[in-house]
Amino acid sequence: MTVLPLVIAPDPILQQISAPVDVVDDAVRATLDDMLDTMYRSRGIGLAAVQIGVLKRLIVVDVHWREEEAGTRKPLKLINAEILSDSEEESAYNEGCLSFPDQFSEVVRPAYVKVGYLDENGKKQVLEADGLLATCIQHEIDHTNGINFVDHISRLKREMIIKKLVKGKKLGLFDHDDHHHDHDHAHGEHCNH
Ligand code: NI
Repeated sequence: MTVLPLVIAPDPILQQISAPVDVVDDAVRATLDDMLDTMYRSRGIGLAAVQIGVLKRLIVVDVHWREEEAGTRKPLKLINAEILSDSEEESAYNEGCLSFPDQFSEVVRPAYVKVGYLDENGKKQVLEADGLLATCIQHEIDHTNGINFVDHISRLKREMIIKKLVKGKKLGLFDHDDHHHDHDHAHGEHCNH
C-alpha cells in the first residue's frame, strides 16, 4: 500500500494529455492499486493517474464506499477509458476534485454514458453508467485529456478558485497529504475526484 502525494492545481501537468497504456502489466496494476490507496486515504470517489503525476490513461473510481463502512468498497479500475456514447439528457452535480482541495462548483454533463476500457487483465470491457458514477467517470476521463472540472464553469468562477489555490499553496495549506482529514465531507453532496 502506497499513498502518493497529489498534484495540486495550479500545475501545468494537469493540462497535459495522458498516453494510452500499450501493455497491461504488473507495473500498471501496481500503479492502479497505489491510486486506489491514495484515493481512499483522501476520501475521494475517483482519481486519474495524472493527479499523482503519471501521464497514463489510468482511472480508479468508487462512488459507493463510505469511510464508516470499510466492507463496502467496490473499486473500478479503468485503463484507456473512452466515452462511446452519451445521452442528450443532462445532469448537474456539485463537483470537487482532489487536485482542487475544498473547491466545489456545479458542473452539467450528460446524465448517461457508455464507456469502453481495458480491465486490469487487459480485457476489453464496456460499462454503462448513470447518476454519480456517470458524473465521476466523465470527470476522470476529462483528467486523462488534460481537462479539469473548472474548465466546465465560468471564467470568473474558475479564476476565483485558482486564486484561492495559489494563495493556499503560498501558505503551505496543502503540504500535508492528509489535509482532507481536517474537514468533514460526510454530507453526500460534496464528492472529490
Ligand atoms: Ni478530479
